[in-house]
Amino acid sequence: MTRSDIETAKRRRDVLIKEIQYHDDLYHQKDTPEISDAEYDALRRELEKIESQFPQLGLDLFAHKVGAVPAKGFKKVHHRLPMLSLSNVFEDQELYDFLERIRRFLNLTDQDIIDICAELKIDGLSCALRYENRKLIQAATRGDGTEGEDITANVMTISDVPKTLPPDAPDILEVRGEIYMRRDDFQALNDRQQAEGKPVFANPRNGAAGSVRQLDPAITASRPLHFFGYALGEIPQKIADTQWGIRQKLFSWGFAEAEPAKLCRNGEEMLAYFLNVSKDRIALPFDIDGVVYKVNRLDWQDRLGFVSRAPRWATAHKFPAEKAITILKDITIQVGRTGTLTPVAELEPINVGGVIVSRATLHNEDEIIRKDVRIGDHVVIQRAGDVIPQIVEVILERRPANAVPFIFPKTCPACGSHAVREEGEVARRCTGGLICPAQAVERLKHFVSRGGFDIEGMGAKIIETFYADGLVRNPVDIFTLERRDQQSLTPLRVREGWGDLSAKNLFAAINARRKIPLHRFIYALGIRQIGEATAKKMAGHYGTWEKLKSAMTESQDRQGESFQDLLSIEDVGPSVAQDIVHFFGEDHNLEILSQLIPALDIEPYQAPKQGESAVAGKTVVFTGTMTRMTRAEAKSTAEALGAKVSGSVSSKTHFVVAGEDAGSKLKAAYDLGVTVLSEDEWINLIKPKN
Ligand code: IVH
Repeated sequence: MTRSDIETAKRRRDVLIKEIQYHDDLYHQKDTPEISDAEYDALRRELEKIESQFPQLGLDLFAHKVGAVPAKGFKKVHHRLPMLSLSNVFEDQELYDFLERIRRFLNLTDQDIIDICAELKIDGLSCALRYENRKLIQAATRGDGTEGEDITANVMTISDVPKTLPPDAPDILEVRGEIYMRRDDFQALNDRQQAEGKPVFANPRNGAAGSVRQLDPAITASRPLHFFGYALGEIPQKIADTQWGIRQKLFSWGFAEAEPAKLCRNGEEMLAYFLNVSKDRIALPFDIDGVVYKVNRLDWQDRLGFVSRAPRWATAHKFPAEKAITILKDITIQVGRTGTLTPVAELEPINVGGVIVSRATLHNEDEIIRKDVRIGDHVVIQRAGDVIPQIVEVILERRPANAVPFIFPKTCPACGSHAVREEGEVARRCTGGLICPAQAVERLKHFVSRGGFDIEGMGAKIIETFYADGLVRNPVDIFTLERRDQQSLTPLRVREGWGDLSAKNLFAAINARRKIPLHRFIYALGIRQIGEATAKKMAGHYGTWEKLKSAMTESQDRQGESFQDLLSIEDVGPSVAQDIVHFFGEDHNLEILSQLIPALDIEPYQAPKQGESAVAGKTVVFTGTMTRMTRAEAKSTAEALGAKVSGSVSSKTHFVVAGEDAGSKLKAAYDLGVTVLSEDEWINLIKPKN
């Protein structure tokens, strides 16, 4: 591996991180994804691959984030055991790779059989049910995986969900599963909605999600929802040895289990199951988006554990996306918060798998060239799940003689400033900065978005109107809105025809958010490349706004210690650091900040509670041959407990775990006086203590 390999990998990684952050934001904050799950997963996988091939680049922690931040209105529930997502396979080969990885991780021979429990992947929303003394006491959505919404009152109205369990069920039990709506019920609901002049749902999954997230349980009760159980969360005692056994137990306790499921003994049987399900899915009364394979033995599941955001012991085999052909009528350009120009395909509306599609993303300028997309072309579009559809390819044989190639604008359609594309960047950006109204509006939307100030009632539409009216042109204006409204001759009541109550509610929502945790404030600022994960890292590093601010002032000297310190933050590479420091070097940003800060109460960062493990936060080096587990397993267990695993021994190392035939690292440990543990001592140390 040469230095240039590493540099190429790093450049690619940085681009991938940017793209993933961008799509995360669209998906979770704006609910307007531009790419399919499959494409998103491909980006993730490429990143993971680079990270594992080039460990020297470090791991980007944001890769571990899943799902959405909980919505407002519901109480929050902390998941004692995180609710994670699943990795995906699409090709047959990937399925065999999945089995092979498990074999290697567990150190199995080719003769060992890995039983796999294959199930349907229900297209609904996941839910965790908590039973205490055999009574249902809480139901929660997944949320961001660690914190979800309390939807107990709504789930109580679902008849499939047992409210009490039989006497043989344990005292404490958490059942995880999927809430879904049947296709016929969905159709009937939409007919009713339409008849009542209410918005219709795009698909059964949205119907189910929309119904569960009603603040009024009476509405949920009027919607026909169902539940399948598929896994256990926290359980204090063992209730089965296998996944199949869990299914049977759940069934015997009154939970519905999705059928068909199958116990498979090898890749061929798994593929056969997948093909059968694909063939018969149309006859099922509910939507599925693939199948899920789970290692059957629970002791193996335990050993396999998790990697980033998904279990190693399970994966989803997804159906290919739905496709259709239509005509590209035009290409328009959207300007994002950081000035990125994104081309959007305006299509002749068409039904793709039950959803009418009239726009698709073209991602960026290169994409248009690569696919040679011209206005007037017949194009294949595809949509997978809920995401914004995309153009797969052009049907060249059907290209009309008058098809027009698209010339990507070199100026911003919103403000006319130059739009430039910097070396190594995929995006062309408007250089208008503060004078660009499109950017300003997007920045404001970001500022009030869920991961930022999360101001209830201040959605995209209101921001656009207030901006156009000159009421809110920058973040400070949001916090002076109430005062100005009171003094104005044309308050919202007159200007927008708002009711007094609506205005009062909006001001209350704004005032409620004057107090904000540091990491959310950093995120809200909308600094380029600073997603929620990096904002959290920065908040953790500096602790308070005052410290952060003075460090940023000092970091203007790129040679100084403060800048080096900034670079030492995990997630902050040179390019990210430049963007941060650049933000704090701009007078207009400092001006806004100086007015904004007095209006706010920024809470110092509160570290999440550390695990109780003795090794949390410690640096560990493994050396020699382990006999009770593989090296990969040892490493991942240690990391799961919050330890940092390093490849070399230094005075900063806390433990060296020496297996058989340990050599120079063991010697180094003795030389440096680092604590040396045998494999057994290590296992003892990490054993959960009650
Ligand atoms: S197991 C730790 N089994 O798919 C793994 N998930 O893409 C827990 N899903 O969040 C998931 N059917 O909401 C599992 N039979 C099934 C499923 C299933 C649907 C959903 C679940 C999960 C998502 C991941």
